[in-house]
This record gives sequence, C-alpha cells and structure tokens, in this order.
Amino acid sequence: MCGIIGIVGLAPISARLVESLRRLEYRGYDSAGIAGVVDGRIERRRAEGKLRNLEALLVDNPMNATVGIGHTRWATHGAPSVRNAHPQLAGKVAVVHNGIIENFAPLKAALIAEGRHFESDTDTEVVAHLIDRELGLGLEPVAAFKAALDQLTGAYALAVLVQGEDALVMGARRGSPLVVGEGQGEMFIGTDALGLGPFTNRIIHLDDGDYVAIDHAGARVFDRDGIRVERPLRIVPAASALVEKGNYRHFMEKEIHDQPDACRHTLSAYVDPITSTVSSPGVDFAAVDRLQIVACGTASYAGMIGRYLFESLAGLPTEVEIASEFRYREPALRPGALALAISQSGETADTLAALRWCKARGITTAALVNSSESTMAREVDVVFPTHAGPEIGVASTKAFTSQVAALIALAIAAARQRGRIDAGEEARLATLLLEAPRLIAEAIVDETLIGSIAQEIAKARDVLYLGRGAMYPLALEGALKLKEISYIHAEGYAAGELKHGPIALVDEATPIIVIAPSDALFDKTSSNMSEVIARGGRVVLITDAVGAGHAPEGVNVVLAPACDPLIAPLVFAVPIQLIAYQVAVLKGADVDQPRNLAKSVTVE
Ligand code: F6R
Repeated sequence: MCGIIGIVGLAPISARLVESLRRLEYRGYDSAGIAGVVDGRIERRRAEGKLRNLEALLVDNPMNATVGIGHTRWATHGAPSVRNAHPQLAGKVAVVHNGIIENFAPLKAALIAEGRHFESDTDTEVVAHLIDRELGLGLEPVAAFKAALDQLTGAYALAVLVQGEDALVMGARRGSPLVVGEGQGEMFIGTDALGLGPFTNRIIHLDDGDYVAIDHAGARVFDRDGIRVERPLRIVPAASALVEKGNYRHFMEKEIHDQPDACRHTLSAYVDPITSTVSSPGVDFAAVDRLQIVACGTASYAGMIGRYLFESLAGLPTEVEIASEFRYREPALRPGALALAISQSGETADTLAALRWCKARGITTAALVNSSESTMAREVDVVFPTHAGPEIGVASTKAFTSQVAALIALAIAAARQRGRIDAGEEARLATLLLEAPRLIAEAIVDETLIGSIAQEIAKARDVLYLGRGAMYPLALEGALKLKEISYIHAEGYAAGELKHGPIALVDEATPIIVIAPSDALFDKTSSNMSEVIARGGRVVLITDAVGAGHAPEGVNVVLAPACDPLIAPLVFAVPIQLIAYQVAVLKGADVDQPRNLAKSVTVE
C-alpha cells in the first residue's frame, strides 16, 4: 500500500510528481504529499484525503523544485492527517515510505532519549531521523542512508531527499516494490512501472534488499551488503495509455467492460485455437501429486473455483488457503506438491510470504499473476500470466475473471496430462472455453436489466448471497464486491448451508441473491429458494433462460446468457459485479477508491 515517486529532473517536477501519484493513487488515498529541494532547502506540501486536495494546495502554493519525492498514503501508523502525511521530515532529510518499520518503537524511544523531537505518529519519521543522525556524524548521504537502513527491520520501499543535494534522490526496497526509471538526463524511482509510465518505459527492477542513488548521471545500485551491483534494464510495454477511464464513469465500470478482451488475451497464453489444445507452460501436472493454492480475498475465490475443476476434471488433490493463515501454520506439504499463488498485483505481502515459505521447503512454486514485473513473478519457478491489463479500480473485476479463465485452462491441461481426458475431450473443452469472451460480452450487454434490482438492494442493510458448486465461491465474491464498494453488509454461503444457521437471518428486509445456472445442481438450489420464500424472504435469482422457466414463484430474475457449466463462473461473475457496481453508484459511494482500502496490500 502507499505509492511513492522520486524524480531528479532537468525542469520543475511538481506537476510530474502529482501526475505519477495519480497513477499510484489506487494504492492508497488517505493523504498525499510532495517535497523538493528549492534553493538548497527542502520544501514540502501535504494534504489530507485525496490527491485533488494536494493539487488544490499546489495551485495556491506552488513548489519550484527540479528534484523531489512524492507519496500517496494508505495509513498504517498514525491516523490520516496532514501531520502524519508523507514526506516525513527530520533535520536535513525528507522521506516517503511504503511498508511498515517493525522496530520503529525502540528506535523512536532511543532517538527521543538523544533529544530528538518527533512531529508525527508514523513509523516513517524514525527513518528520516536515523539518516539525519548519520549525516550529522559526518557520513556522506549514500553512506548515511545505508547506515540507517541497517538499523531497520520490517518491510519498506523508501525515497529520500537530502537538504543541499539538488540532484540526488535515494531509494531502497525490502519487502515492498520499487523500480528505477531511466529518462533523457533525468532519473526516476517509483513504486511500479505504471507510476513512471508518463516519463519512461526504461525500467530497472531492484532486487529485495537493494538500495539506489539516482542523479543526472544515472543510477548507482547497491545490494543489501553495500556492494555496487548492476541490475538489468528492461523496456516495459507502454502501459500508460491503458490507464485512462475513457468515457466510463469509473474505472470499475470500464474494467467490467474490459473483461471479454482480458479473458481473450489471457486464454491466448494457454489455448491454441487452431489445434484446440491447452497447455500449462512450465509445469507438467502429471508430475504433481498435490496442488496448494494460496491467495487473498477475491484471488482466493478464483482459487476456490479452480479447485473444483482441478479435482473434478484432472483428479488432482487441491487445497485452497487464505495466505495470511497458511503462512503461520505448519502445513504438511512435501516436495511433489506445487504451490500456486494467485495474485493480481503479485505484491500482496501474505501471498508472497506463503510462497517464500514453500520455496524454502523445496516445494516448486508458481504464480498466476497479472503484473508480469511483480516480485512474485520474479521469485517463483513458474509464471502463469493473466493478461487483464492494469486494473485500477480497487474492487477486482477483470483480474478475477482472467484468473478464473486461466485456472480453467490449466485444469484442462492438467486433465490431459494426467490421462483423465483424451485429445477429443480436450478439444471439446478448449472450444467451450474459447466461447467465454463472447458470452461475458453478452452478459454485460444486459446491464440495464439490473437497474430496478439494484435500487431494491441499495435500500438493504444486509444481503445474503447463495450458490452451490463453483457458484459458491461466486457467492463469496458477490458478497465481497457489494460490501467493499457499497458498504452494505453482505455474506456469501453455500446454498446447502443455509439451513444450518444463516436461515435465521431471513426476513423481508434481507435480499437473498441466488446464483444458479440451470445445471445439475439447479433443483437443489431451487428448493433452498423455496425455503427462503416460505419464510418471507425476497429472492433475486441470477440464472439463464431455462433456470428462469423453472424458478419458484415470486423470485426476481436477473438473466445471464446460457452457457456450459465449465465457463459458468466466468459468465455469472458479470451480473454480480454489475449489481455491486450499480448499488454503489446509487448510494453515491466512491466506487474506485472505497474507504479504508487500497489496491495492493503490501503489509500484513
Ligand atoms: C477485492 C480485491 C482484493 C484482492 C486481494 C488480493 O476486490 O481486489 O480482495 O483480491 O487483496 O490482491 P492481489 O490479487 O493483488 O494479491
């Protein structure tokens, strides 16, 4: 969480710092700030809340620096306020930080005992003090920075400015992402290539533990031991054009509409439409005896859908666990297992830690990631890409369906490799899977049908989502989408669980959204709907035309295109996203930047 940027420029950089922060705002938006060296002195501007508040401040109070750093914050230590906004300043040093300094309390106590005064409640301020102290002891800036880094434990990406240094920015990363960008006589550091997109596509990825000094001559990179190292420069695809909203009201709306393309591009990495064959580049599932999926939030629900298919199609024992739990118990995994992380960002701290845990025990690791330059992508043995493009809306949509599409493809490949299906069946399933982008597009076309239902749901205080089979993880996903962007309390349940407790919640004020395509489980779910209706509950049924024809009396139907059960999780994801989106719009909520959240969760 938090986005950081640093620029050593040839011309004033305030506007460019803000432009970069706009691209990084998805990472946190509790406050924003910039600092620059002006006539040898550090100036800073900070504002609570969204970036637009900082922009307004800069109109009244511009900053004329050619070297500077910037930050958009997701608060960890210290409430969102100007005082706690970054850059944090101590003496001659300004710092922006993404992550958590775990030993900040003893460091702060020691610094206070030395007579230093603290202005904020942040953990970051200790970093500024530590560097300033080392400078005071006579070290030159890069050596002072290294001496301070050696005292820190925890996760961080940092950008640092030093008073009097009008052509130097220093950066470091441990556990949080940081890249270096190379321009024409100008240099940049930033959280990701997206943030540097408007300035350069020439990117150097730092290794974990690296620190760097940038100036007009280029970048000097050092490893955690202080040894000067060279890290490869890569030309990244020009992602900048892809992060505009176009004519959509919100990124989430755009990203829902991006899904046919995102799914199509993702499938092109796995399915050959000419031969109707499916591959799993880098992994032979015949040699895997157990699949352990680790992920957080929406990505874990994609994993749950994947489990149904890996077990039913490929007969591969599959576990899915939330990464934050997995990493702190001692899972009984042995070599022979494949650990598969699922992550849009490839940076989620818990998922990354779970992967590292597996790697340290000799287990082969793979990651299904959207960000090909991410830490996970670089650390695992095998990368399975999704090609959803940058996802900016905090609520995941196209990344989720792309993950599900890739998992379906991998399960088909695994089934073939494990001898569970023959070439004919592989071709049949591949052909079905390739229909998904078209059917997702059809599901989006029916957007308007959701309007009146969204109005009803917007009035509710609580909403229940029910599903069976692969629709159960979709019920969990539907509930998560609704609660995160509309702040309505929602829970997802397996439809068969209803009678074991949740049915007590049913009353006329609690809409029940049932996700039930007309498949082999439809009649069972239909009985559950009848049980709800008999108790005065209001049911919204998301189904296809055949399901609608067999629905119990009194349900409100949202129609989805008819499709094979193989791809139903992809097609039926669309109406649940549209319901959440339209409810949030009706409630006037901040759809793309819901309160308290951030897109990439790089702290535990
Ligand atoms: C919800 C959502 C989150 C993420 C989760 C994992 O809409 O987006 O639940 O799925 O934080 O993030 P990644 O996929 O980046 O690891």
